Amino acid sequence: LASIDVDVSQVAEGQSITAKWRGKPIFIRQRTAQEIEEAKAVDLSDLKDPIARNANLPGDAPATDENRSAEGKEAWLIMVGVCTHLGCIPLGQAGPYDGYFCPCHGSSYDTAGRIRQGPAPENMAIPPFAFTDDTTIRIG
Ligand code: FES
Repeated sequence: LASIDVDVSQVAEGQSITAKWRGKPIFIRQRTAQEIEEAKAVDLSDLKDPIARNANLPGDAPATDENRSAEGKEAWLIMVGVCTHLGCIPLGQAGPYDGYFCPCHGSSYDTAGRIRQGPAPENMAIPPFAFTDDTTIRIG
């Protein structure tokens, strides 16, 4: 229940896996250079939710790409794969922002999992996690 270790050695650039933690899907993605670039290019004033929603950072940390991705490993996006509207599970690499798209009511998230369009109020949550070695992520 407390924490899980996920081996990501087989997750190449541009690939994702979904782990399960506390009954919730955890999306783990090694993003492409283009996805990172797209996320970094976003003006923070364009974000619907300007807060990082990252359990590893202070509660008021801004939703920069740096604050959404893994510290020192910006390619990695690790987040709770639950739409912040009413809890559906969004599809990956989908929607108008190339990120995540929730088919329930059309919320669209970008390549950093930040809400960009639709009824969801918040960015998808980043759970507490850390890389314990180069290819292992401890969640929780
Ligand atoms: Fe995702 Fe409503 S639950 S848009």
